[in-house]
Parts: sequence; C-alpha cells; structure tokens
Amino acid sequence: MIIAIDGPAASGKGTLARKIAKDMGIPYLDTGSLYRAVGLLTIRRGGSPAEPSDATAAANALNINDFTPDDLRSEEAGNAASKVAAIPGVRAALLAYQRTFAAQPGGAVMDGRDIGTVVCPDASAKIFVTASLEVRVQRRIKELREKGESVNEQRVWDDMAARDARDSDRSVAPLKPADDAFLLDTSAMNADEALASAKAFIVSKQKT
Ligand code: DC
Repeated sequence: MIIAIDGPAASGKGTLARKIAKDMGIPYLDTGSLYRAVGLLTIRRGGSPAEPSDATAAANALNINDFTPDDLRSEEAGNAASKVAAIPGVRAALLAYQRTFAAQPGGAVMDGRDIGTVVCPDASAKIFVTASLEVRVQRRIKELREKGESVNEQRVWDDMAARDARDSDRSVAPLKPADDAFLLDTSAMNADEALASAKAFIVSKQKT
C-alpha cells in the first residue's frame, strides 16, 4: 500500500506520516529531507539555492547520509529547500529515488508536497493535511522554543508565509491537493485526533 501525505510546512503531516508508518509497519520517507539536503549541499558547495545550475548539480551529487537530522531540520535548510524545490532539474533528479522507494514490496508512507499529484499519482490513499497559517506559525514557534532557540515571532510568520507562497506558486509540481485526496484540517486537532481521522480514511480505502 502506498500512502501519500502532502501539505504545507508545520501542518502536522510529518508527525502524522511517521505515526501511520509505525502503526501499520510500512517504510516511511520524509521527502522534504531530500530537498533540505539539496539546499544545504548547494550552500556547502558555495552555490546559491535559487540558482538552477548550482542546485541541480548538488541534487545530482547528493548523498543523503552526509547530513544529520539536526542539519536537515534547521531553518536554513528549510528556506534553502523551498528555493531548490522550484527548480525543475532538482525535482527531476529526486524523482527516481522517490519512485523506487515507493515501489518496494512492503509499500510506503511518503510525506511531501507533490506525492499524491506527481510522485505517486496511483497511491492507494492520499491525504492532504492543512492547518491555518496562524496555527502553523504557533506550532513552529513552540518547536523552536523547545529546541532552546531564540525566536523572533514576526520572522517565523514572514518565513512561513514566504515558503507557502514559493511552494504554491511555483510552476513545477506546486503544492495543491490531488483531486482524490482526503482533506484533513488539523487546526483544531491534536496529533491523536489527526491520526484517528487519517486511519479511518485509510481503512475505508483498503476496503475499496
Ligand atoms: O516538508 P518540509 O518542510 O521538510 O519541506 C521542505 C521544502 O521542500 C518545502 O519548502 C517544499 C519542498 N518540498 C517539495 O517541494 N516537494 C516535496 N515532495 C517535499 C518538500
């Protein structure tokens, strides 16, 4: 079974996808980490994440094991990721890896922006996770404070809004729900409620 979970930053899709994967014993891929790694590698090589030739060269040279989870979760990585993600050569370089992961015999749970629309259009269950900008900003602020980082609230808001705009307005694989996706708005839900709702949908797809 391939389960596609898409949505904007801090919508809760990563937490949800990890829980579903663990619960159902299905391999999990956080595809955002691939774009984050490409963004960081572009910077490490002295390039600019918005420059197509720099970012595409980094995507083709990527070894995901060169990055720690802390490197990948940084704001620097997230901002660079949303720039490299708009570059067609980068998306093409990462597509084969994602499709191979999805095709493994044990199935896959994958989260990202375009899993249900581009990477796995035939996924068995597609979930589009959303939450209001305000709620997502508050979640990100809480996450940063828990990591002990000092937080400029206005900056978090501006960065999130800019990232949403870049993800949604780009011409290749923009962030949007697949026509057959289940829309899950987690603005007023905790993680357990989101999981229960998503699982009910997945079970309904298993029966069809
Ligand atoms: O989910 P995330 O915040 O780790 O993703 C980082 C960036 O990567 C995000 O701005 C959009 C991009 N991305 C994408 O374009 N397609 C994906 N499948 C996953 C992430």
